[in-house]
Amino acid sequence: MAFTKKFFITSSALALLSRASSNSSIPSSCTVKSAATAQSDLDSLSSCKTISGSLTLSGNLINPTLNGVQVIDGDLNIENSADIVAFNANSLTEITGDLLLQNLTSIQTLSLESLNSVGSISLVALPVMDNFVITSLTSADNIVISDTAVSTLQGFNNLKKVEVFNINNNPNLVSIDSPIKSISNGLSISSNGDDLALVFDQLIWANNITVLGAGEVEFPLLTKVNQSIGFINNTFEYLNIDNVTEIGVTFNVVSNDELTELSASNLETLGGALVIANNSKLTNVTGFPSLTSIGGALDVIGPFDSFSIPKLNSIKGGADVESNKTNFSCDALNKLEKSGKIQGNVYKCKAGSSSTTATLSSGTSSGSATTMATSASGSSSASASSTSSTKKSKAAAPAQSMNKAGLFGGLAAVAVAML
Ligand SMILES: *[C@@H]1O[C@H](CO)[C@@H](O)[C@H](O)[C@H]1NC(C)=O
Ligand SMILES: *[C@@H]1O[C@H](CO)[C@@H](O)[C@H](O)[C@H]1NC(C)=O
Ligand SMILES: *[C@@H]1O[C@H](CO)[C@@H](O)[C@H](O)[C@H]1NC(C)=O
Ligand SMILES: *[C@@H]1O[C@H](CO)[C@@H](O)[C@H](O)[C@H]1NC(C)=O
Ligand SMILES: *[C@@H]1O[C@H](CO)[C@@H](O)[C@H](O)[C@H]1NC(C)=O
Ligand SMILES: *[C@@H]1O[C@H](CO)[C@@H](O)[C@H](O)[C@H]1NC(C)=O
Ligand SMILES: *[C@@H]1O[C@H](CO)[C@@H](O)[C@H](O)[C@H]1NC(C)=O
Ligand SMILES: *[C@@H]1O[C@H](CO)[C@@H](O)[C@H](O)[C@H]1NC(C)=O
Ligand SMILES: *[C@@H]1O[C@H](CO)[C@@H](O)[C@H](O)[C@H]1NC(C)=O
Ligand SMILES: *[C@@H]1O[C@H](CO)[C@@H](O)[C@H](O)[C@H]1NC(C)=O
Repeated sequence: MAFTKKFFITSSALALLSRASSNSSIPSSCTVKSAATAQSDLDSLSSCKTISGSLTLSGNLINPTLNGVQVIDGDLNIENSADIVAFNANSLTEITGDLLLQNLTSIQTLSLESLNSVGSISLVALPVMDNFVITSLTSADNIVISDTAVSTLQGFNNLKKVEVFNINNNPNLVSIDSPIKSISNGLSISSNGDDLALVFDQLIWANNITVLGAGEVEFPLLTKVNQSIGFINNTFEYLNIDNVTEIGVTFNVVSNDELTELSASNLETLGGALVIANNSKLTNVTGFPSLTSIGGALDVIGPFDSFSIPKLNSIKGGADVESNKTNFSCDALNKLEKSGKIQGNVYKCKAGSSSTTATLSSGTSSGSATTMATSASGSSSASASSTSSTKKSKAAAPAQSMNKAGLFGGLAAVAVAML
């Protein structure tokens, strides 16, 4: 104990000392005092290996270049200029703070060939930037690339972990190929080029994953999602996350119009809800052969005729499973419900429902389909093409349509939260 304490004091004192001495070794000519507004301001720093303080570029610079400087002990900010067409700082190896480029309507290229380490990178509102070179990067916390003209994301080939990787609204972006192994906060991809190919072939775990608008996704080594994973509004035909064994919270697969095959064959536990809805070509939901428990609700709505989660023996929430196919059978789910394995208040299973997608989008206004289904539940003869039951007898028709509205609200909320 005593030893640990002594060591702690000594090491923090050392850290303080070295910080003080490193600051004092920087000549005052290498301390940034105001924004650089001309190339001569940047040239006056070129004899400095390290500059102290945050560097901001403004004014009418067109092709600013930062030569010589290896370390910026602070942030590098370039914002709000229609003049800058390129920025180069090819000797820069480290930015101890963040790199921010924002609202630069003419910038086409960014070249930071030697940059190895930076806090966060934000490249935002750079509508004609189609080329950036940050090929040496080995360490960054957050990467946000939004509203640029890049077509591929290169230059992150040595980056193994990040907290946030958020790539959105880059209309020309057609591929992201990343060697990142872990994402400790969120991976978020949305509204990029049509049919974006997303390949994360070394990713092992991520806290959250949200993908909208992709044409292909590959997560071959992904084994765990600590919180939630969602795929909304994509155009891929296949979604396989077969190495995933555990998802901490929710798994959403919503509005993927081309999806025909969904497989998570090793997924055993899901801490929250499983939502599979509005995937207009997904005719079977059989890709969960190992799933034993669902910690939230089960909501599956679509044109499927086969549905099977053979090992499922616990649903903590309710269940709402509806298909517009008449040969879909509720037998397995009814059995699960009867044996008390569905613990939530709501249970509904329905085959041959008139039009699942239409019902989904106009959910709140029409209670009639739901009411009909509810009355059919009491009639065994009607159950060949339509079965339904409510778990608690208190949950009559109005409560059911409310629940349904809740589901749509829930889906919308999920989609919005994930943006
Ligand atoms: C050293 O520089 C850093 C960044 O410029 C600053 O935050 C810190 O307070 C300085 N430390 C000393 C002892 O001057
Ligand atoms: C973007 O930069 C321009 C100058 O190029 C400025 O006039 C405009 O206000 C900035 N927009 C925002 C949202 O800051
Ligand atoms: C993960 O995603 C969920 C829902 O999508 C959200 O509520 C939560 O804040 C996210 N967590 C992190 C750390 O991003
Ligand atoms: C699962 O991971 C192993 C390596 O650990 C790999 O060989 C295999 O192809 C992966 N499976 C799938 C379906 O991607
Ligand atoms: C997520 O799970 C991985 C693998 O079990 C673990 O190493 C990591 O610490 C977890 N991350 C968070 C943010 O909980
Ligand atoms: C889904 O994609 C369409 C275009 O394909 C787009 O108009 C719509 O806004 C997207 N919805 C969401 C929630 O991203
Ligand atoms: C079921 O819904 C899908 C769209 O989700 C539709 O294409 C199909 O025609 C519907 N089938 C029936 C039998 O209503
Ligand atoms: C599910 O549908 C896909 C695509 O039609 C098919 O390849 C797969 O074999 C089907 N699986 C089962 C178990 O029916
Ligand atoms: C349901 O009917 C369709 C034809 O409408 C057929 O292709 C499918 O194999 C049937 N599925 C089952 C599980 O019987
Ligand atoms: C279902 O998809 C259609 C387009 O394919 C969309 O208009 C509708 O809003 C989606 N509904 C939900 C609940 O996501």
